[in-house]
Amino acid sequence: MMQMRGKFITFEGIDGAGKSSHIAGVCSFLAARGIAVVSTREPGGTPLGEKLRELLLNEPMHLETEALLMFAARREHLDQVIEPALARGDWVVCDRFTDATYAYQHGGRGLDRNKFADLERWVHGHLQPDLTLLFDLPFAVARERIALQTRELDRFEQERADFHERVRQAYLERAAAASQRIHVIDANQPLQNIKKLVEDAVASICK
Ligand code: TYD
Repeated sequence: MMQMRGKFITFEGIDGAGKSSHIAGVCSFLAARGIAVVSTREPGGTPLGEKLRELLLNEPMHLETEALLMFAARREHLDQVIEPALARGDWVVCDRFTDATYAYQHGGRGLDRNKFADLERWVHGHLQPDLTLLFDLPFAVARERIALQTRELDRFEQERADFHERVRQAYLERAAAASQRIHVIDANQPLQNIKKLVEDAVASICK
């Protein structure tokens, strides 16, 4: 029998949107249904990708270098982790993917989004997430969560409020243009409510 392809779920949102605990929750939710899950993240997810992540989060660089390295890490990630997992029937839950490049490098940094459309076609023209959960909340709320971090803030977390608000708007515009795939979750509400919305969205693609 031919192996059914797995499904690809991505999590997105501004820094401090609080997606981490829900990513773990979705993995347990799927595992409880007998689904094999690979949980991963971008930038990163492979040994080379994690090295690129370290640079991307901490090293000053040209804005276009930043965008190109995001896609370079993604190319490796697709080849080493995402594609093989989906092909063997596992589901992939990924903390950020190409929507983040549009939101941060176009919305935040102001780079031309047409360039990303070309790179997207090149790197994964044939593949899009089956479901994207966009954690949405005002940056003023997210900032309070970021402020609780005890570690040093990375290059993105250190950006000003207007940067994060532009990232948020770019995410919302993408969600409006792809409302079938991208579910916007109001992340400014009690954890239990969010958990329910996330599980309902995931359940809707479990059939
Ligand atoms: P993040 O998921 O926020 O990591 P953590 O929760 O551990 O801090 O991701 C790291 C940062 O990378 C985040 O600030 C957004 C940024 N990023 C981009 O700017 N473009 C991209 O394409 C991706 C995947 C991430």
